[in-house]
Amino acid sequence: MRTFKQTGFNTLKIAIDGPAGAGKSTVARRIAEELGILYIDTGAMYRALTWKALQSKINLSAPGELHQLARATVIDLQDNGHGMRVYCDGQDVTTQIRSPEVSRMVSVVAADDNVRQVMVDKQRAIALRSDVVMDGRDITHCVLPDAEYKFFLTASLDVRTMRRGQELQSQGYEVDLARLKQEISERDQRDMNRKVGPLMITPDAVVIDTSDIDCEGAVRKVLGIVREG
Ligand code: DC
Repeated sequence: MRTFKQTGFNTLKIAIDGPAGAGKSTVARRIAEELGILYIDTGAMYRALTWKALQSKINLSAPGELHQLARATVIDLQDNGHGMRVYCDGQDVTTQIRSPEVSRMVSVVAADDNVRQVMVDKQRAIALRSDVVMDGRDITHCVLPDAEYKFFLTASLDVRTMRRGQELQSQGYEVDLARLKQEISERDQRDMNRKVGPLMITPDAVVIDTSDIDCEGAVRKVLGIVREG
């Protein structure tokens, strides 16, 4: 039986936004696990499309081409019990979408209005069918503005850089922390200043700063609020 609040909608929606490296994915995945519901990493969707755009060598500044690519691409997120796998047209691209090249270009692809519309439609369709924890940049105010629970996870730029750096090192990449910090900061700026679906804190979101708490601390905070109803 459910112990959390439900609205007239048939599905439970927990929306989490925040900048890169704030711990959204780790926290969102754990919340979904605890509640036994689906986790959708919308950043992975934009990354998968960016990976395909780079592979296909399309002209990223030609808006029509990106829109066409977004419509023609099937992106699938599957949790096989050992973490989420990301598929692009049936190919497992879980590792490839975390490459520095994709990270550098993804906010350019994500700034395309038509691409966003295609992605937002896909994300809403998933949330209509299933109880979901969804994380990204525009989930609380654009994709799921009627979500029952909204959170904004953040952390200082230094902490976020350290986290991303460790993640990349564990994947075998050499990391220049000063350059990474600069890239994350530029990405934040592009994400916050684009016309459509910018990164922002909505008045109804609970802000959680993870600079001084670990992800489990953030998970406990979120679960406390959701279970209280
Ligand atoms: O969360 P992430 O770092 O994997 O996200 C990758 C990029 O995708 C990031 O630059 C912002 C963008 N993004 C977005 O614009 N909207 C979302 N809902 C999710 C991610």
